[in-house]
Amino acid sequence: MNQDVLLMTPGPVNLDSEILLAGAQPLRHHRTNDFAPLYADCVARLKRLFKTKHHLFLTHSSGTGGMETAIANLFHPGEKVLTVETGAFGERFTQIAKAFRLEAVPLKYPWGHGAKVEDIERMLKQHPDIKGVTVTFNETSTGVHNKLEPIGKLLHDRGVLFITDGVSGIGALPFDMDGWHVDCAISASQKGFLAPPGVGMVALSERAWAKVQKVECHGFYYDLKHYKKNQDLAIPSFPWTPAISVMFSLAAALERIEKKGIDRVCAHYAKLADGLRAALGALGLEIFTQPDVRSNVLTVINAPAGIHPSKIVREIRDSYGVLIAGGQGEITDKVFRITTIGTIGEKEVIATVGLLELALQKLGYLKELGKGVTATLQSFAKAG
Ligand SMILES: Cc1ncc(COP(=O)(O)O)c(C=O)c1O
Repeated sequence: MNQDVLLMTPGPVNLDSEILLAGAQPLRHHRTNDFAPLYADCVARLKRLFKTKHHLFLTHSSGTGGMETAIANLFHPGEKVLTVETGAFGERFTQIAKAFRLEAVPLKYPWGHGAKVEDIERMLKQHPDIKGVTVTFNETSTGVHNKLEPIGKLLHDRGVLFITDGVSGIGALPFDMDGWHVDCAISASQKGFLAPPGVGMVALSERAWAKVQKVECHGFYYDLKHYKKNQDLAIPSFPWTPAISVMFSLAAALERIEKKGIDRVCAHYAKLADGLRAALGALGLEIFTQPDVRSNVLTVINAPAGIHPSKIVREIRDSYGVLIAGGQGEITDKVFRITTIGTIGEKEVIATVGLLELALQKLGYLKELGKGVTATLQSFAKAG
């Protein structure tokens, strides 16, 4: 097996050895003062990157564990939650809400389209007993970047809890939890935070924390009251054994992001995404996602007629050692996805575009090579 596959997938993302090797330190016991500074460092940095001054807990799970934690702690059984579905991860929130015996009311959009605040407002009128709304910040299955700020304002004014799945968006796209009135934001270590998988994050506003205290959590492991109690100890800790090694890598990655500055990190990804999109236009490939909501985290591309996307993914991986992603859910047979986040830069995007051209030539779609790479180079040159 090729151990050196370049990950151009939307999580886990490509990581460099400096971040990975940061995890290879001797362990520090999580009930001691040796560990406490690492914990405090991760939480403080994450709060700054989420832009919140309130509560943030690490769940030691993947992103789905964070989503489950939010639902299990924020709602009583039977409470009504509006689950906005702009793709597979929006649907996941509906499934989790149902699993915890809430009444989930899905608001479904055609895949590739973004959520609209007017539709949410209409649903709130139809269902005045809605207690919370879930929205995916960056829908990784469709490449939709949902605009949260107007939704946050609406829900804040109505006293409805606003929960966002920020798993692939936070750390890569501009985000302002407190400024946008987000009550609960969820993320995970392996995407925008440039670390290996294993640490989930759940941040809560004061309003959300007040609700957590009233709800009898539907589970034990993810009951945030345990997490809060342990976080407030003289030696802050976790109720259970944390993913200590992942936290070392996470701390190193967060330090790097903060050193560069989150605005510059987001601008870097925007430049990479523009470079990729320029190539697609030049190659006559269509972007699946509607123009007004296209994400800089990843680009979802329609496979040319007659070529199954899995053939493109396989050819680039097997022949050249670069992994892009296939489609998910209802668009599995239609699209492939290329990410533009991770510890990557211009050279990885240029290489991926070139290899995509080679693969598409082999598969009979392209006659002439080089148009895509040229467009990417021009886009990068223009951006400076
Ligand atoms: C937007 C979004 N939400 C949730 C998840 C689920 O995260 P995990 O696979 O870490 O459980 C993902 C993973 O791809 C995601 O992209």
